[in-house]
Amino acid sequence: MVTESLASWARGAQALALLSAAQEKGYTTYLASARTAEEFADFSGLPARTAGNVLAALVAHGVAEEADGRFRLTEDMAGALGGLVDFAAQIDEAVLRARLVGSITRTGEGALTPSDALVVARANALRPSAPGAGALVEALFESAPEMWAAMADGRLLDVGSGVSGFVLSAATVLPHMRATTIEVVPTVAAVAAERASELGVSDRIDVRVLDARDFDEPAAFDAAFWAQPFFPVPVRAATIAMILRSLRPGGYLLVQQLDGPDAPLRRLVAEAQQLPFAKPIDDVALELSAAGFELIRTVRTDLGPVALLRRPLH
Ligand SMILES: C[S@@+](CC[C@H](N)C(=O)[O-])C[C@H]1O[C@@H](n2cnc3c(N)ncnc32)[C@H](O)[C@@H]1O
Repeated sequence: MVTESLASWARGAQALALLSAAQEKGYTTYLASARTAEEFADFSGLPARTAGNVLAALVAHGVAEEADGRFRLTEDMAGALGGLVDFAAQIDEAVLRARLVGSITRTGEGALTPSDALVVARANALRPSAPGAGALVEALFESAPEMWAAMADGRLLDVGSGVSGFVLSAATVLPHMRATTIEVVPTVAAVAAERASELGVSDRIDVRVLDARDFDEPAAFDAAFWAQPFFPVPVRAATIAMILRSLRPGGYLLVQQLDGPDAPLRRLVAEAQQLPFAKPIDDVALELSAAGFELIRTVRTDLGPVALLRRPLH
């Protein structure tokens, strides 16, 4: 019944507002150590009663817990914030999605601003500095060992690099890998460059800011990774043609399908942005084969289905 659903939608929206504000105001960082209600009130600047109610709401939602009159993050929340993916960015992305649903429903308009693009890029990237990020990427390549070997001593082209979660994680375990990354949003590419410098791998990672369709370095790369779910329909054919010509003959291309339920609200947002919503990996492989790639295999990995292809030798 719609009247009952409204109560649960409202609770979800309010919980997201609580979590997002707590993250934005630094409460989650502050509560990494145990604090009394008075300390929290001082830190937040909220009236004592409101601060107590905020703490109670965080406890009720599994974000914080109370022991001996002190409040701290639950193990679950602390683990999520320190995990392999940027959970704080995923909170921001959830807020962004809610805003986009509203805007698309009102006007049909769902374009991302540069700061929205940064939220999406962060939310969909591994954190290369998190312990285990390199090992996770390595495990993903158990299904594509020939590409891993080609990357180990060769040149990788990362198309739609975002904040370079994948490339930088790989660079931490492949000390001789060199990569060129392509990202169209300057503020997003700037974060990738900053992270490369923090990890001490800037000399091996060439961060380029341009539309992938305009990249021109023929037959120069041993392998490529294409963030295909983030490329709108009108730019896909020219992007695929660019990847094909950038690879040396026999060079590999890995693409991934983003798993997720076929939820109508996700579809509403993706299709307003002209993105290929939940396109099955077999259809992505067909799209690439029709453009001249040779399919080597499709595999279901822990990170979702992937397809490995190559530029034909002749
Ligand atoms: C969300 S990232 C993918 C995650 C990334 N592979 C990682 O490992 O962190 C995808 C990026 O593709 C970029 N993109 C979309 N269309 C593009 C185009 N035509 N040229 C270059 N980049 C593009 C988007 O701006 C977005 O930042």
